[in-house]
Amino acid sequence: MTNMKRLCLLLATLLLTLPVTAQPGYRPDPSNLAARERFSADRFGVFIHWGIYSMLADGEWAMERKGLTVDEYQRLAAGFCPSKFDADAWVKAFKDAGAKYITFTSRHHDGFSMFHTRQSGYNIVDATPFKRDVVKELADACARHGLRLHFYYSHLDWYRTDYWPLVRTGRASGRPDGDASSWRHYLDFVNAQLTELLTNYGPIGCIWFDGVWDKKALFDKQKPEDIWDLPGTYSLIHRLQPACLVANNHHMAAIDGEDFQIFERDLPGRAKEEYNTGQTISDHLPLERCETTNTAWGYKITDNNFKSPETLVRMLAETAALGSNLLLNVGPRPDGTIPEGSLRGLKAMGEWLRVNGESIYGTKGSLLPDQPWGVTTRRGSVLYLHILKPSQLIFLPYSGNKLLKAEVLADGAPVKFTQVKEGIVLTLPEGPVAPAGHRVLRLSFKQEIN
Ligand code: GLC
Repeated sequence: MTNMKRLCLLLATLLLTLPVTAQPGYRPDPSNLAARERFSADRFGVFIHWGIYSMLADGEWAMERKGLTVDEYQRLAAGFCPSKFDADAWVKAFKDAGAKYITFTSRHHDGFSMFHTRQSGYNIVDATPFKRDVVKELADACARHGLRLHFYYSHLDWYRTDYWPLVRTGRASGRPDGDASSWRHYLDFVNAQLTELLTNYGPIGCIWFDGVWDKKALFDKQKPEDIWDLPGTYSLIHRLQPACLVANNHHMAAIDGEDFQIFERDLPGRAKEEYNTGQTISDHLPLERCETTNTAWGYKITDNNFKSPETLVRMLAETAALGSNLLLNVGPRPDGTIPEGSLRGLKAMGEWLRVNGESIYGTKGSLLPDQPWGVTTRRGSVLYLHILKPSQLIFLPYSGNKLLKAEVLADGAPVKFTQVKEGIVLTLPEGPVAPAGHRVLRLSFKQEIN
């Protein structure tokens, strides 16, 4: 071989190997990138926490809180018969609320599967007198009504003996603990269930993981992604459905293989909850904040602390202003009905969104910090002002772009304005706020806002 040929061969080998070694990790499929954009534009989804725990009417952690053993807790299954469950009615109510997707608890920390799995008899079809696969019914209803279906899936399991070791919770369950060799068995079970969820129910918008934090005490020695073999599970999901988004409620910055970032009970970056302290915000992934319509996630009979329509709509606007989606939870009762307090709030959101949805769906987060009167969202050359505090005179510290028109979004009523060097002064017309929520002003500028 001549020297030149040798050099060419060496270069060719280098070129072939470089992209792999220089750029390791997850490269999302184009369909996944498109799904992320769609997801971001959706801005609003409904979270559903439903399982056999609803019978105890004390939230989804009832087994742990009441210190029930597996033997005691699993007896609930034999009595679970939600005679009023109607997937169509649920999905229709969520669609009318303006939600674009639902996130359903396919399996929570109690380890009970709310779908017909072949991996364990501890599931809604094989272990309850109800015998219906509610996930299948929800998938069909979502397809009929045009909502996307996401699955919540718990890493943590208080029921299975191969879940090892129990670290923070599940210690009262009274079940024998597994050992190091059983852990891989558990992870294989998880992957087999995810394969079912991604094979039997049509296109799935997202797998929403939760529970990694339960082993936090071990993270000094081992990274969560290694303990749970997250790369293995994430790549399985992306192989089965490349457009399916992966997210994990681990309260940390996104890990390689995740497609959006979750903020539990918090606005991105605000860290009101201690567990979110230090959670940096991704600069390229979509964001999602999850919240409750009352206080608990799972049905809790004593929780009548339902948020008002004004609070819910405000939450949606504040979340969108930070470039994030809002995932708002309901906790259905054991008979399959949704508490009226949650439904009232959702209905009001739908009424507000039918009039003001343009200021939420498909918008981008604000370039301005929160203002004394409220927050903003934007799209192209239009800026939306969400007036969250009763104000008549408003100052918008935004300049350098000619304002062409200002109006009330709900009814097109003109808004008087003066543009000065430092920004814009607007005078809001008087009048009641209808529908329940807050008023939005639509400001059209000459140039794109960026
Ligand atoms: C927390 C709770 C869990 C709930 C989740 C929803 O992780 O422990 O029960 O499902 O928040 O965000």
